[in-house]
Amino acid sequence: MATLNLQDMHAIADEAEERMARDLDVGVVRSTLFTLGSVDRTQALGPKRDPNQRMLMGQDPRLPETPARPKLIDFFKLRFGPSAHLLQSAKLALKAGHPEKIVIACLLHDIGVVGFIRSDHGYWGAQLVEPYVDEEVSWAIRYHQAIRFYPDESVGYEYPELYLRLFGPDYRPDPYIDRDYQYARNHKWYMTARLVTLNDYYAFDPNAKVDVDEFEDVIGRNFRQPEEGLGWDNSPSSHMWRTLIAPTKFL
Ligand SMILES: [Fe+2]
Ligand SMILES: [Fe+2]
Repeated sequence: MATLNLQDMHAIADEAEERMARDLDVGVVRSTLFTLGSVDRTQALGPKRDPNQRMLMGQDPRLPETPARPKLIDFFKLRFGPSAHLLQSAKLALKAGHPEKIVIACLLHDIGVVGFIRSDHGYWGAQLVEPYVDEEVSWAIRYHQAIRFYPDESVGYEYPELYLRLFGPDYRPDPYIDRDYQYARNHKWYMTARLVTLNDYYAFDPNAKVDVDEFEDVIGRNFRQPEEGLGWDNSPSSHMWRTLIAPTKFL
């Protein structure tokens, strides 16, 4: 079976956008961030838009609609990519008998990757959940990204095999990652972030079934779900949740 390259995928996305514009009489433009690296943003894009065309200013009809007051679990089900890695990491922490703050940190540690953006995912993920979790939890999410690159024999953590394959044997983390690791290593919450990396496990059992609903109670006790719903509560990260609700909104 032929695999799709990035160009094919963009062609399909463009076609879907054109079709939607025809069907709904509304235009959709993908943000710069979605296309950087695959489209030359210094050039004008595509044919000139009809000046009378209305643009999408709400939820994208191609995505499942979110409830009026969305909860964290709704984002897992309606917006995030496959989250088996998060669920299995949390399950490992649970089985190891770690406190719930470790379990919730494991459950959310790569929320940046599955829900938002890969680049600097620890920092984005921490910011996204910061208003709703214990400070120690968002701290661990922020620093797990840097700590992941550094072994700690005292707890049996080695440099990940996966990273050797993904980045090559000569890869060295950027200076800011090294700086943040040094800072985190001397912090009182170092071991919280270290435990996240210890449960950050990629050798999944493909037959293991873990459902986010299994963590409903843990989430209920450790994630302060806002009354108005995520996105509508006027917290420092509400705009990030709103962007997840309506990622193609024109403005
Ligand atoms: Fe991560
Ligand atoms: Fe991870």
